Amino acid sequence: MSKQEHIDNSKLPKHIAVIMDGNGRWAKQKGMPRIFGHKNGVKAVKEITEAAAKIGIEYLTLYAFSTENWNRPAIEVDALMRLLVETIKKEINDLNKNGIRLNAIGDISKLPPRSKTALEEAIEETKANSKMVLNLALNYSAKWEIVNAVQKIATSVQNGDLNVSNIDADYFSQQLETAGMPDPELLIRTSGEKRISNYLLWQLAYTELLFLDIYWPDFKESHLIDCIIEYQNRERRFGKTSEQLT
Ligand code: IPE
Ligand code: IPE
Ligand code: MG
Repeated sequence: MSKQEHIDNSKLPKHIAVIMDGNGRWAKQKGMPRIFGHKNGVKAVKEITEAAAKIGIEYLTLYAFSTENWNRPAIEVDALMRLLVETIKKEINDLNKNGIRLNAIGDISKLPPRSKTALEEAIEETKANSKMVLNLALNYSAKWEIVNAVQKIATSVQNGDLNVSNIDADYFSQQLETAGMPDPELLIRTSGEKRISNYLLWQLAYTELLFLDIYWPDFKESHLIDCIIEYQNRERRFGKTSEQLT
């Protein structure tokens, strides 16, 4: 029996979110510069994306660059932005081959023009794919996303297009970057840090959280399968008692 066969296909999470953390420490451990870690992190992105699509996950959301990451040394930020362009261009064919539609969440208007253009082209060229959506969180921050949603809602009220009494949780969700997508059932963070780092604060309200003690470049398909199996073994009570679920 292959490892993947241990997954219960009737209980697959539709949406998995990942905080890909630990590239820098992975490289440091090997006596290499941080960017070497990021390059190897890209290999893990490819492996996980293709594995998730094969397993039947519908949405995979990867935290690639936070608004706070602009505060890193310029040399690292530049290298990350260049790596983004290179990777996107290189991967378009494989995304299409695997039926993966690329999408970005975050304020991509603030990315360097070359990164923004490469991203927009890849989004356009993969838009007909329907096996899985790959959301890249780029220049993303949950507080930015929430404030942005509040501004959209306030504008609609101000213009007379929306009644305050029609603002509910569902309406609010539809003003977020993830509009139209289910909330993630599972969040995976690598590197041993146990925090959310301004990621999907609204969407993670009832998500199962999994923190792994490995660095992102070491994350393999087998880890993804283990995470899904662990998720499937959790009891999701949503406020009820255990007895009510059976
Ligand atoms: C995650 O790895 C990648 C990005 C944030 C872009 P880090 O670069 O944060 O690696 P550590 O956490 O410093 O080891
Ligand atoms: C979170 O990782 C952002 C990404 C993975 C892109 P960080 O390494 O930036 O998070 P902190 O600084 O440890 O919270
Ligand atoms: Mg980090």
